[in-house]
Amino acid sequence: MLSRLTVSGYRSIKNLALPLSAVSVVLGANGSGKSNLYRSLALIWSAAGGTLASSLAAEGGLASALWAGRRHKNEDDYITLALELDDLSYELVLGRVPLDSLMGMSYKASGDSLEQFNQFFLNDPDIKSEMVSVDYRGKQIKLLERTSRNISARNMDGRPIEYPLIVSSSESVLTGLREPHLFPDLAKLRSDILSWRFYHHFRTDFQSPLREPQLSTFSPVLNDDGSNLFAALATIAAIEGPDLVRQAVADAFPGTRLEFLLSDGLIEIELHQPGLERPLHTAELSDGTLQYLALLAALLTPRPPGLLVLNEPETSVHASLYGALARLIVRAAKHTQIFVTTHCAELAKQVAAACKVEPILLEKVDGATTANR
Ligand SMILES: Nc1ncnc2c1ncn2[C@@H]1O[C@H](COP(=O)(O)OP(=O)(O)OP(=O)(O)O)[C@@H](O)[C@H]1O
Ligand SMILES: [Mg+2]
Repeated sequence: MLSRLTVSGYRSIKNLALPLSAVSVVLGANGSGKSNLYRSLALIWSAAGGTLASSLAAEGGLASALWAGRRHKNEDDYITLALELDDLSYELVLGRVPLDSLMGMSYKASGDSLEQFNQFFLNDPDIKSEMVSVDYRGKQIKLLERTSRNISARNMDGRPIEYPLIVSSSESVLTGLREPHLFPDLAKLRSDILSWRFYHHFRTDFQSPLREPQLSTFSPVLNDDGSNLFAALATIAAIEGPDLVRQAVADAFPGTRLEFLLSDGLIEIELHQPGLERPLHTAELSDGTLQYLALLAALLTPRPPGLLVLNEPETSVHASLYGALARLIVRAAKHTQIFVTTHCAELAKQVAAACKVEPILLEKVDGATTANR
């Protein structure tokens, strides 16, 4: 289980250390930092998967991601992402590419100073340090330590060895693990992180993939954009039995029945609703109904991830569905750890009560996200 997340220097998160439980409910007003927390978890996932630089680039680059507030004179302009997962601790520190490393570049433009060219690389991340340690009978044993220049690791016997891989300065050492049997703890950390799943708002406009028939393929995992929603629902029905999906739909929308339609290898759903003479197709469903069905497919997945992260699931979802959503989360929490953010106090209250946890309250103070724990 992910028991602690520490983030500093990242967007509005100047410094935050959050103890997490089987279900963590994060409540905060607009702009309090919920999505930044969500993105910090997604960045750790990207680092483990080898897409750290491109993920940072997609969100505007390092310069945009660095905390924009005032720093102490000697404080480095760094982003720190750290976590405790089972008995392992992981820490990744990122900063700007140093000028002296650019000096090594062969390309020189005549008459221009290299300082000027340094500006071109302000958005590239440079890993300043990376560390993995294991808790052994209350003592932290370092399994891997990386500085800007050096990587040292310990093998299964606990003996320090040179890490056999050269990774670029923007790549996590977890990315390039080629001999996992020599580093089982690092391999476990990497695969645990890579099992995390993220969902943030499903498009429901008229051009959305959720409104068209989809290719019918075995889909135990809902895509992050929901583009295989109907196949994912059919897969849940096939593995867990059709009653599970039907009951979950009826729990949210009393009297409503979901049916699957298959035509030319394409799958679609229709909803039979009380008071209507004919069923409604996906193109005709409301935004909130589609949004909820996607959450349902994400939470009932027959292949649960290590961590399921839902960012602001209340989008378009009416308060009358919060109870059913909370029940889905309670059910999912039996198989997976859940991290859910919301700006909706009522949803946070219902999910927290159903899961018997206290919500984490976020607030922005002087431009920095703070939490009540
Ligand atoms: N580099 C940065 N340094 C400091 N603050 C930043 C930086 N980048 C973004 N922010 C601020 O972070 C704040 C929190 O953003 P975030 O998107 O996490 O809010 P949120 O809680 O998800 O809000 P909403 O409910 O509106 O989605 C915003 O007010 C934004 O201005
Ligand atoms: Mg947000």
